[in-house]
Amino acid sequence: MLFAVLLAGPAGAQPNPALLHDKQAFIADLMKQMTLDEKIGQLRLISIGPDMPREKIAQEIAAGRIGGTFNSVVHVDNRMMQDAAVKKSRLKIPIFFAYDVVHGHRTIFPIGLGQASSWDMGAIERGARVAAIEASADSLDMTFAPMVDISRDPRWGRTSEGFGEDPYLVSRIARAMVKGYQGASPAKPDSIMAAVKHFALYGAVEGGRDYNVVDMSPQRMYQDYLPPYHAAIEAGAGGVMVALNSINGVPASANTWLMQDLLRKDWGFRGVAVSDHGAITELVRHGVARDGREAAKLAIKAGIDMSMADTLYLQELPGLVKSGEVSVEEIDRSVRNILGAKYDMGLFQDPYVRIGAAADDPPDLYAESRMHRADAREVARKSLVLLENRNQTLPLAKTATIALVGPLADSPLDMMGSWSAAGKSQSSITLRRGMEEAMRGKGRLLYAVGANVTDDQQIVDYLNFLNWDHKEVIQDPRPPSDMIAEAVAAARRADVIVAAVGESRGMSHESSSRTRLDIPASQRALLQALKATGKPLVLVLMNGRPLDLQWESANADAMLETWYSGTEGGHAIADVLFGDYNPSGKLPISFPRSIGQIPTYYNHPRVGRPFVEGKPGNYTSQYFEEKNGPLYPFGYGLSYTDFTVSAVSLSSARLERGGRIAARVTVTNTGRRQGEAVVQLYIRDEAASVVRPVKELRGFRKLALEPGESRTVQFDIGEDDLKFFNARLEHVAEPGEFEAQIGLDSQSVQSARFELR
Ligand code: BGC
Repeated sequence: MLFAVLLAGPAGAQPNPALLHDKQAFIADLMKQMTLDEKIGQLRLISIGPDMPREKIAQEIAAGRIGGTFNSVVHVDNRMMQDAAVKKSRLKIPIFFAYDVVHGHRTIFPIGLGQASSWDMGAIERGARVAAIEASADSLDMTFAPMVDISRDPRWGRTSEGFGEDPYLVSRIARAMVKGYQGASPAKPDSIMAAVKHFALYGAVEGGRDYNVVDMSPQRMYQDYLPPYHAAIEAGAGGVMVALNSINGVPASANTWLMQDLLRKDWGFRGVAVSDHGAITELVRHGVARDGREAAKLAIKAGIDMSMADTLYLQELPGLVKSGEVSVEEIDRSVRNILGAKYDMGLFQDPYVRIGAAADDPPDLYAESRMHRADAREVARKSLVLLENRNQTLPLAKTATIALVGPLADSPLDMMGSWSAAGKSQSSITLRRGMEEAMRGKGRLLYAVGANVTDDQQIVDYLNFLNWDHKEVIQDPRPPSDMIAEAVAAARRADVIVAAVGESRGMSHESSSRTRLDIPASQRALLQALKATGKPLVLVLMNGRPLDLQWESANADAMLETWYSGTEGGHAIADVLFGDYNPSGKLPISFPRSIGQIPTYYNHPRVGRPFVEGKPGNYTSQYFEEKNGPLYPFGYGLSYTDFTVSAVSLSSARLERGGRIAARVTVTNTGRRQGEAVVQLYIRDEAASVVRPVKELRGFRKLALEPGESRTVQFDIGEDDLKFFNARLEHVAEPGEFEAQIGLDSQSVQSARFELR
């Protein structure tokens, strides 16, 4: 095979194809031939950049000083680098090519929060599968995804990348994503290896400020924040990316408990652990290492196999081994994990498995034929959440005259959201385009931008600085009043207004934490002027985090949360606005009423003085200036039809250990359209040895019902569904009373009680 041809170079040091059938023997044989420097070279993960041009990287690879690269997505470049590894380096060990394929590759799917809103594991898996097909066709072997950080603080800009606040839902999604990326095996030519991130607890940075510390009780960690990483690993993720934050005083990148006791020993992870960008150097700034030398020592001892984007391992490990501070065994442990991952990616079988032959290189990387638009449109439709629909304002008639306004109505870059991999904004269908196509030959679409996303030049400068390689935010230079006047004039001539407002994509990104959650003032002023026209006002929200929508919810006639819906977003949103698709998305994260209410999450632990709706609220847990609870709860989302849920019937009021009971409801579509409902099962533990959440999601089912149709939905509840981590961190189901709550969101539920003996 190709491998044999490539490796039939000079006799002596090289991987031995005769041992390929036996992973451990193959790697052991290879490691026997490696010098210490060659081993240390494998630990380096490096990006092509201004100070690291591809030619220089190729030289370093040939010298055995690089184990893998990221951010290079072009066959010619990757072939040149792989040639350097397998034709020029002494040991001929292939390198791998990684990239942040987070929500699509060339075809961009909705951001994480959007995909999570679909509550459709098949759709999410398909999205990751398509991403893997496209990424592997661009010669990539690994993705730094899925990003499964639980986030309950929308100030954190990376909330957009994850899948929301709930451990059960995010764990299900973690599995679906890993399955999608890796397919039948990460060795397949159209699969890529998943490296789950950011291990661990990155979403809990204090105050939602990016890179801040995480300080958390072990119970909360185990119960709420760790399960999604564990789920990804159980699903076979070959890699883990280590978080930038510290955890209870120890940075993840130097955290032996996290990286070894938990990840390797308890969870049995055998894959590769890569640091985040520059994280090992940052140990000095965390103040746990005096200098780079100590940082390298702490990281390798903790079990960080590859150092991303720094040279510390390369510079410091030889000396540390020489002085005896780091053992060869500690280096070997990491080398074994890296070679093991390369083996699992199929690179020893064929280093060019995803690069292919030069003759087959795609002539046009951006060719339409390489895109998967139908898949993206399907997932995007499912990701849209209808938050309000007064007087059945939606769906709209295609024959109407519609004023489309707002800075996000025709912004192809923003459609993609952050971390849009190799997506090109030119491929994006904006809302304007989607609506124009839908209305062609029928009604009239009047377009006016109406406002800039923000008039705050400091924010604009920051967003442009964050995305250094292109102009991220382009301001309309006209005075705000002129822009508003133009939009109002369009509104006056229209039957209905559709306003696309929210955040530009850079506002919900890494290093984009916010202290406010409202729609920026420039856009609010536009909305106020539009409202004053008296025309029906439909808001299409584009944003990467829950926003404070108190004004909007009171003033809009209809409101559709679209997140950043990706390449086909404009078509998908138009499908919903015009009723070609009945919205079925449900919130994977609570929307607070105000920023002061944060954290607002549905599964909060019980308290001794809970607020009781309707009772005079003195000396109970609440904010006296504001209504209690979220503006829109977890699991919430409207449809163009209506559903009812019957009372819960239990097959028995007593659950025996090892047994199961069935909880059933009948769901009926009482409206006039076909539609999909997400039936959600929550469990409430009435009393336990530790304080338990008010309720926890334990199951859900998405089902389509015709008008008038009823269907019985059954959830089987077993002991495992009642388990939690007790004060000794044992995963136990304690005897006692429980409540099974079933409904269409986390608040409006039917319930029935049972007992575990
Ligand atoms: C981010 C990671 C990402 C890495 C490589 C870092 O800044 O935190 O999520 O995978 O860069 O691009």
